[in-house]
Order: sequence, then structure tokens, then C-alpha cells
Amino acid sequence: MNIRRVWIMYWSATGTTEKITRTVGGTLAEKLGAPLEVWDFTLPSGRQGQPDFRDTDAVVFGTPTYAGRVPNVLLKYLDTLAGNGAAAVPVVTYGNRDFDDSLIELRDILADHGFRPFAAGAFVGEHSFSTVLAAGRPDADDLALARTLGERAADRLAGDELELVAVDGTPKPYRGYYQPRDRKGTPVNILKVKPLTSDACDKCRVCVKVCPMGSISPEDPSQYTGICIKCGACVKKCPKGAKYYDDAGYLYHKTELEEGYKRRGEVKLYL
Ligand SMILES: Cc1cc2nc3c(=O)[nH]c(=O)nc-3n(C[C@H](O)[C@H](O)[C@H](O)COP(=O)(O)O)c2cc1C
Repeated sequence: MNIRRVWIMYWSATGTTEKITRTVGGTLAEKLGAPLEVWDFTLPSGRQGQPDFRDTDAVVFGTPTYAGRVPNVLLKYLDTLAGNGAAAVPVVTYGNRDFDDSLIELRDILADHGFRPFAAGAFVGEHSFSTVLAAGRPDADDLALARTLGERAADRLAGDELELVAVDGTPKPYRGYYQPRDRKGTPVNILKVKPLTSDACDKCRVCVKVCPMGSISPEDPSQYTGICIKCGACVKKCPKGAKYYDDAGYLYHKTELEEGYKRRGEVKLYL
């Protein structure tokens, strides 16, 4: 197969998916001797268009796992993609619990939109809600595995036929979105929860710039004028540490995840 360009395309609110996607794609481009192009669709502006994919492209495509699936706020944009025969490596990150059906869903979205997903990976990233759950991941071992995926994908592209990659997960119809529950088993609804802003805020507006939903008011960064998806961008990127949550359901879920998933989550490569 004659690959002339390698694309990396990702949505990454707190940067872990970006790190993995860049490492896989960078290795792939280097091994193929092809130029590397980047399309970041984390911010609303990145979802205004898409690359002009061709069948001589290979794309490493990354999203995090949200509630065991591809983040549902991205589905409308993903539905506009046109792969035009580009070879694809779907990659998901997850925050040490499980990636459930996110990888199989991402693979299918790409296949349904004209890409040829032939290799894939699931990687661990520090949980968006936490600084202790999967802290510091992806780490050096994870990045070594990301390079392995890039190298082996390049080997696979040297052959003629690209078969649909088999991945873990429940085939369509996928399992429902993962539902956090309290001690009594009652569903915890965090949909309407938004971060609060402490007096430490000096209105530098970093949060306004990094919010993937464009939901923070530039006039008053303590105000959320649109939806909040709890992605962690404003909380983790605030230079003053001024953003925080006080919702009891959210905090219970966060602690439960931190307590329940201390083991080292596994990286899985599919080729
Ligand atoms: C709303 C939401 C739901 C999440 N659901 C899951 C999940 O079901 N399983 C899991 O292991 N991690 C889950 N995570 C954690 C992210 O998948 C993980 O931290 C990922 O590395 C974040 O990617 P990013 O740094 O590119 O934003 C969730 C995070 C958010 C914000």
C-alpha cells in the first residue's frame, strides 16, 4: 500500500488522548517516511471542517472513553466524516476503569464513514475527574506500547490487503452508557453538574479558551453559559487551581472510582 500522508486526528480535553495519538502517529509516519499532518477537533473551531482524506492516507484517530462509549457530544461531528478509503487506526483512552464499548464503537464509526480501520489500541490516561486515578498516565511504558502500535501498523501497511481489525467490546447494539450509582444502587445523575470557581480566579480566561464546548463566559469565567461535560479541561488547566466541584453525587462517584480501580489498567493493542 502506498501511503503518502499520515494524519493524526483527535479530541482530547486533558491531553492524554493527544499524547497517545501523537506517539502512535509520529512513529507510523517516521517508519513510513511520510509527512505527518494534525487535526485537533477538541475545540468547537476544530469541528468546523475536516481533512480532505484520500485512499493514500493513513489516520490515527483518537477519542477518550466517556461512560464506556465514544463521548456522545462528538457523535454529530463524527457523523460528518468522509474517509474516502483512508487506512485508519482507531485509538481510545480510558481512566483506569474500563473502555467497555468505546473502541468497537469508534472502529465502527470510522468503517461506516469510508475509513479502513486495520489496527487499533486502548490506552490508559489519568482520569479526567482525578489526579490520583491512573496518575501520570500515559507513562513511559504506555508510550513504548504506543510506539509498538505505530511500528506494527506500518508493517501491516506494507502488505496489500487491509482487513477490518477485531477489537474487544459488544458489537452493535452496544451496551448502554455506564451509569454511576450510589451506595444503595440508585443512579447518580451528574449531567447538570458544573465546576464552581473560587476567589483564586484572576480572570486569566485560560478556562474560556480550553473549554471544548465553548461554554465558559469570557466576561465572567465563573459562569457556564452552555453545557458542561465534566471533561476536566478547565479544572486541570486553571493556573490558579480555582475550579472545583462541590456536588455530592459527583464527589461520591469520583471517590468510588479512585477507591475501586487502583490496579494498573491494561493497554491493549489490536493488529
Ligand atoms: C464524563 C466522563 C466519563 C468517563 N467515563 C469513563 C469510563 O467509562 N471508563 C474509564 O475508564 N474512564 C472514563 N473517563 C476517563 C477518561 O476516559 C480518561 O481520563 C481519558 O484519558 C481522558 O482523555 P483526555 O485526557 O484526552 O481528555 C471518563 C471521563 C469523563 C470526563
